[in-house]
Amino acid sequence: MFAVRSRLGLSRARGRAAALVALLLALFLLASCTSSSGQDAAAVSRGKELFAANCATCHGVGGEGQPNWHTAKADGTLPAPPLNGDGHTWHHGDGLLYRVVSRGGQEFEDPRFSSFKSAMPAFGDRFSHDDIVAVLTYVKSLWGDKTSRGVSIVESQAFASEQDPFPPGGG
Ligand code: HEC
Repeated sequence: MFAVRSRLGLSRARGRAAALVALLLALFLLASCTSSSGQDAAAVSRGKELFAANCATCHGVGGEGQPNWHTAKADGTLPAPPLNGDGHTWHHGDGLLYRVVSRGGQEFEDPRFSSFKSAMPAFGDRFSHDDIVAVLTYVKSLWGDKTSRGVSIVESQAFASEQDPFPPGGG
């Protein structure tokens, strides 16, 4: 009698384990449908449109920037720098890049160097949170496998973003 009951118990346990495996498999399949790479692909294509319409006039169609972008013009503003990984955009974490697009280049202005004036407009009143994240996701997609001192700039920037991530959305 005891043996029968324990065998029954065992098969019930096996049944539960199988159900659990099936559940985990279903969750895994569901998760891979909404994976971050799927979201990134959507953000990249939305960001590409936003970039072409709002950023390319200054930063160039491919994000290559304007010539002599290091040298201030007569009015104290700088030409638009490259965003395609050839400049230093990747030195900044997601949070700073977000603030630059949202608030404009005043983010870079420093009262100690009052001659510097920024020519980078603020997009915070025109762009939603998701728009800003999308346009920056697109910008980052231009970096491909470029490296600096042998290190992937995408990885360097991801590291900087751990300290300074995108602000939370939905607010
Ligand atoms: C009117 C010209 C102009 C437009 C339009 C413009 N930018 Fe800029 N942007 C600049 C300039 C100039 C700078 C350099 C910093 C400064 O002078 O404030 C800059 C800096 C930046 C930086 C910091 C780059 C770095 O390497 O530190 C980012 C990121 C950026 N812009 C993104 C964008 C995005 C995204 C758009 C479109 C939504 C855009 N910009 C539209 C002129 C422009």
